[in-house]
Amino acid sequence: METIVRDLMTSPPLTCASTDSLAVAARTMADADIGSVVVTDRGKVAGILTERDLLRAAAAMADPDHEQVGLWMTAHPDVLSPDEKVDAAWASLTAHHYRHLPVVEDGHLIGVVSLRDLMGLARIRPAAESMTDVPAGLEGVVVAETTVGDVRGQEGFFHYRQYSAVDLAQQRSLENVWHLLFKGELPDAAASASFASEVRARRNLPPGLAALLPALAAQGAPLDVLRSAVSVLGAELGWRPTHDVSAGELYDQALGLCAVVPTILASAYRLREGLDVVAPRADLDFAANYLYMLTGELPSPEHVRAIEQYMILTIDHGFNASTFTARVITSTGADLAAAIVGAIGALSGPLHGGAPSRALDMLDAIGTADRAEAYIRRAVEDGERIMGFGHRVYKTDDPRSLLLRQVTERLGGPLVAFSQEVERTTVDVLAELKPGRQLYTNVEFYAGVVMHTCGIPRHMFTPTFAAGRTIGWSTHVMEQASHNRLIRPAARYVGPPPPQPVPQAS
Ligand SMILES: CC(C)(COP(=O)(O)OP(=O)(O)OC[C@H]1O[C@@H](n2cnc3c(N)ncnc32)[C@H](O)[C@@H]1OP(=O)(O)O)[C@@H](O)C(=O)NCCC(=O)NCCS
Repeated sequence: METIVRDLMTSPPLTCASTDSLAVAARTMADADIGSVVVTDRGKVAGILTERDLLRAAAAMADPDHEQVGLWMTAHPDVLSPDEKVDAAWASLTAHHYRHLPVVEDGHLIGVVSLRDLMGLARIRPAAESMTDVPAGLEGVVVAETTVGDVRGQEGFFHYRQYSAVDLAQQRSLENVWHLLFKGELPDAAASASFASEVRARRNLPPGLAALLPALAAQGAPLDVLRSAVSVLGAELGWRPTHDVSAGELYDQALGLCAVVPTILASAYRLREGLDVVAPRADLDFAANYLYMLTGELPSPEHVRAIEQYMILTIDHGFNASTFTARVITSTGADLAAAIVGAIGALSGPLHGGAPSRALDMLDAIGTADRAEAYIRRAVEDGERIMGFGHRVYKTDDPRSLLLRQVTERLGGPLVAFSQEVERTTVDVLAELKPGRQLYTNVEFYAGVVMHTCGIPRHMFTPTFAAGRTIGWSTHVMEQASHNRLIRPAARYVGPPPPQPVPQAS
């Protein structure tokens, strides 16, 4: 059974009154060989006085016979419950650098736990290795400072730099948002034109990668090909570790990478389909050129704008798993290609970027709106995840899904009414079967509908996500590299207690 605070606290605790002198308190501690005394007022905790407080008083030349404890104690200290697990007590003490914490039950002091008590437990690690437990999945844990943007889950709001991402998607081009992320500001007309022509000129594959791509494309799905192709690209272009390159050199690499990723993806797709590769066109914007390279036809302005808005909305999104992965890899000083390859791997999972095609598969499986409730109910009762619903950060409507729902309405088509009916039903069924979990549509649900309506094949949904998100990842790589510290957390060992004798080899 797990040890709790009650099992190891010192009880009864040493106590004194706030009106006692420091000398009295010091003698009490010395007699009991304990480094703190709890200050009580009618059985309740009023404060705690520790050896550290006595040292502070001595350093201030306070007269111990006349100074009262109340002046030097920490008033209203944090307290522990006797039923708290020892690990939690350890985390609380070490996180706040406390050495002692009073234990309180029903408002009354019943004991004290000290770092020494915890250390006495053989299986607790030494004080030099103090650790703080954080929630599984790092939920809500701040691991860095960033100026790239943020997600406010309770408000259903997210932004790039200081601008609402939804406003940007409604008012600006993808190239403008790319400029904002890379250069920190939205461009004026002249800067916008020069940035657009700079990135358009960098869409062609370098010769080594172009020669290898058919072999790579024959091996796997376009996202897997992208992962390998980015690795090849970095090697071919001689990208050195971020640790060794200047900010300017890294920016140049990142610009080229983001410009070329759509070409890699579209080429990989066409090669796999047995179609001729379509070369990029320098007279088209990012989204238009991507659709053109995929289909070989000039896309309609409606489809271009829909995909451009989707890409703007998904270009960055806080410290999601793939972005964090990119930053962890960058923190080791590894090169840009290594960071992006890792990010692509993280994105591929269905709990992250792999969901939109599954959401559309689900719509297919449901078939008609009248079958939605039974389908969703059975799936949730069987413990399945409904793809395109729920989010780690959003506990209200995902603002991306709200805008994408509007985009589907603007595009029209057979899926519009049906997908909205399935959304309503799913939200209702989840509210009933998973009460209090606040599960709403996430970006992936309508992303699938938008991409499908614009003629993007299902297995290109996540790659299309990656085409835009590479810009966000690269921005984070540059930020991480600009003031880097190795990201190296710890894990709590929960296996058999070490050291055990090593069995003789038989
Ligand atoms: C995105 C996601 C991984 C976030 O998960 P998370 O923050 O770790 O949330 P949890 O896994 O702790 O889920 C909390 C509860 O809600 C339930 N839940 C979350 N998303 C759900 C979904 N899509 N369908 C059914 N139940 C869901 C979980 O089963 C859990 O219920 P429980 O408390 O009874 O165990 C999760 O919502 C999910 O798997 N969604 C489907 C995949 C998807 O759309 N991915 C794209 C994300 S943009």
